[in-house]
Amino acid sequence: MALTALLPQAERAFAADVRAGLMRSPQKELSSRYLYDTIGSGLFEVITALPEYGVTRAEERIVRSQAAEMVSRLPAHGLVAELGSGSGRKTRWLLEAIGRRHPVTYCPVDISPTALALCRHELANIPGVRVVGYERDYLDGLRQIVSERKGAMPLLVLFLGSTIGNFRRLAATRFMREVRALLQPSDAFLLGVDLIKPKYQLLAAYDDELGVTAAFNLNLLARINRELGGQFDLRRFAHEARFDTDTRSVDMHLRSLDDQQVSIPGADLVIRFERNETIWTESSHKYLAEEVAAMGEIAGFRCDGQWIDRIWPFADTLFGVG
Ligand code: AVI
Repeated sequence: MALTALLPQAERAFAADVRAGLMRSPQKELSSRYLYDTIGSGLFEVITALPEYGVTRAEERIVRSQAAEMVSRLPAHGLVAELGSGSGRKTRWLLEAIGRRHPVTYCPVDISPTALALCRHELANIPGVRVVGYERDYLDGLRQIVSERKGAMPLLVLFLGSTIGNFRRLAATRFMREVRALLQPSDAFLLGVDLIKPKYQLLAAYDDELGVTAAFNLNLLARINRELGGQFDLRRFAHEARFDTDTRSVDMHLRSLDDQQVSIPGADLVIRFERNETIWTESSHKYLAEEVAAMGEIAGFRCDGQWIDRIWPFADTLFGVG
């Protein structure tokens, strides 16, 4: 019997994805969704505070200064769903502004229990706000929230932090179309997207001096070691960030520093790496502000407002339905 048959469902899916991704040719890959175990989620929190990574601070500046204005453009949203809750820090400003107008139920959706716990901790005790977490994939969680809503209560969906940048461009539009299909005319969608900026700035953001992003990336191999009994020697791989001008994305890779063979018993795999061969682990696509509005319109939304941070170009765009 294969070892993987003994693993619980989530680990079996992880094992199958690791096996398929590392056997892929010519480019080995591991899905970025697996970067966020407990250690990875903690490291990502540290990344958001790094001087080189302006994404989170830019969105915090926008939301903090514009929350009242954003909320004034919305109908009375008694229900707020956030896809990929993160720590919930930015959301506080929005929830406080909404909670001042009327009671609201806030539903963070995240596959990471660590992220949900951080979010609950951060957003507890806001007057007028009740928090109900959904440990689900984004669309599954949103589907459930929509199916449980009472009557025509308007729903505001948040997708902040440029998580949409981690989708390929076509997949991003497809995702927005799927969100749109779940919404009703009085609903709204607030989307945070990191904008294109000089290459040196982007590369520094994904390859910081302290090495936190390197640790975040290498933790994926450490996770395979912990959960699937992998034999990766982390000192024989190096973090790498590249800018791809065709896709306008910063791509993270793990480069093998020599010829080597690694066994991963939990994925029934022994895999060879040539010197300098890489595993692609994540892409972060960067957009022009007008592309974001156009993408929403292609997905069936109406652009009701856009706020841009000029210190670190980043856009929050508010879409209406219908
Ligand atoms: C979660 N996501 C939007 C981050 C990004 O910027 O693509 C993940 C990240 N990867 C490396 N640094 C940050």
